[in-house]
Amino acid sequence: MRKIILSGMRPTGKLHLGHLVGALDNWIKLQEEYQCFFMVADWHALMSEYENTSEISENITDNVLDWLSVGIDPEKSVIFIQSEVPEHLKLYMIFSCLTPLGILERCPTYKEQMREVKMRNLNTYGFLGYPVLQAADILLYKADKVPVGKDQLPHLELTREIARLFNNLYKKDIFPYPDAILTQTPKLLGLDGRKMSKSYLNTINLSDTPELIIKKISTMFTDPKRIKLSDKGHPDTCNVFSYYSTFVPRLNNEVSDWCMKASVGCTECKRLLAGNIISKITPIQQKRAELGKDKDKVRKILDAGREKASSVASQTIEEAFKAMNL
Ligand code: TRP
Repeated sequence: MRKIILSGMRPTGKLHLGHLVGALDNWIKLQEEYQCFFMVADWHALMSEYENTSEISENITDNVLDWLSVGIDPEKSVIFIQSEVPEHLKLYMIFSCLTPLGILERCPTYKEQMREVKMRNLNTYGFLGYPVLQAADILLYKADKVPVGKDQLPHLELTREIARLFNNLYKKDIFPYPDAILTQTPKLLGLDGRKMSKSYLNTINLSDTPELIIKKISTMFTDPKRIKLSDKGHPDTCNVFSYYSTFVPRLNNEVSDWCMKASVGCTECKRLLAGNIISKITPIQQKRAELGKDKDKVRKILDAGREKASSVASQTIEEAFKAMNL
């Protein structure tokens, strides 16, 4: 029996290079070794976007097209939409009964969002329960491993805590204690050197045209100490260089050599980077254009995903109800 993986992404916008190197590239590798469940977490999106729901639906299809185009393979992995498998809500409800308020109120991600997010009202019952739904997502499939970013570690801690509470209370070892798989690639920064995020308008999207990519890369900050062409550069503090390391590592030595010797200027260096990123993205976009024409095929993939996910999920719910004498 292969070990089980579950991961999810909230459909809150178009996918960008940060999603590719931070999550999807990793998912593609994991599907060779594990039984993977990849989920569009639309209910999680709703928990933060409930005031403005207009884009959620569109983003769901858009993100799934990107997943398929980068190589998430429906023959190997189960690809599904959270809201199409209502068992998530059943387990979420059961877990809500036994999750102490304190561990949710103390959760670092919750405290941070409460402090930082000013544009939306997240002071709600639903948002406090966000990690409880996430625990239900993971435990419904009895996942052994959960590939996530570092920011999600507190949610995995809570997931294990909830599994422990359930197993102890009902004296049955139904749920596992899943671990995170952290991505190896260092975080890809945005065009402006901050975290790559749609809300900072500093992303390169998987759907950007070559012209737009060239334009965006030309605006990137480089080594602040390199003002004139003849100034020697410092690749290790240059965001453009970090993109080379992530996307074209074979050019690392050559590029850092130019930069330190000031033999090639930043404009030229960015142009070459843009060309390499475009060649990475072009095949993805071609596949996407093909799939986009075949909406039926995508729907069929999601239907099959829902069926497979549901059959595992309903079995877990049955076990849980039985343990609870319901
Ligand atoms: N909370 C995750 C995020 O914001 C998304 C998510 C929802 C998830 N359910 C999950 C991730 C289950 C891993 C497993 O990125």
